[in-house]
Amino acid sequence: MDQDKIFHRLLRIKKTALAKYSQFHVASILETVDGELFTGHNIEFSSYGLTICAERVALFKALSEGRRQFSRIYILSDAKAPCPPCGMCRQALMDYAPGLEVVMYGSGAEVKRMSIADLLPYAFTPDMLPGDS
Ligand code: THU
Repeated sequence: MDQDKIFHRLLRIKKTALAKYSQFHVASILETVDGELFTGHNIEFSSYGLTICAERVALFKALSEGRRQFSRIYILSDAKAPCPPCGMCRQALMDYAPGLEVVMYGSGAEVKRMSIADLLPYAFTPDMLPGDS
């Protein structure tokens, strides 16, 4: 996927983030192995704990549309430094996309690429549960 196009799409998505309480806007794009893109931004609620991160919005959209194989997620936030996914998102991504590459952008020039496995070492995984296939 063209990195310039991805970055500009992230910028557009970030503008529509529903972040009226934190004022911290986050955008994400989840790419399937077939190159399909699912977008997400954070969504905040007046009962703050209901907030959902951009990464899980993109993941839930893709999962609910039947996609199961993912190669990469791109993330952009308002921060200058590249934006890493929070702990809950790391777990959610690890469950459904253990081979995922995570590409993190910020408003600065630095771009950080890491695997989800490196972002969540010694992870709890679904195959530890009884009856998992
Ligand atoms: N947030 C994300 O959407 N993704 C992250 O990786 C970090 C945090 C959101 C949640 C909340 O709406 C705001 O950023 C501040 O935590």
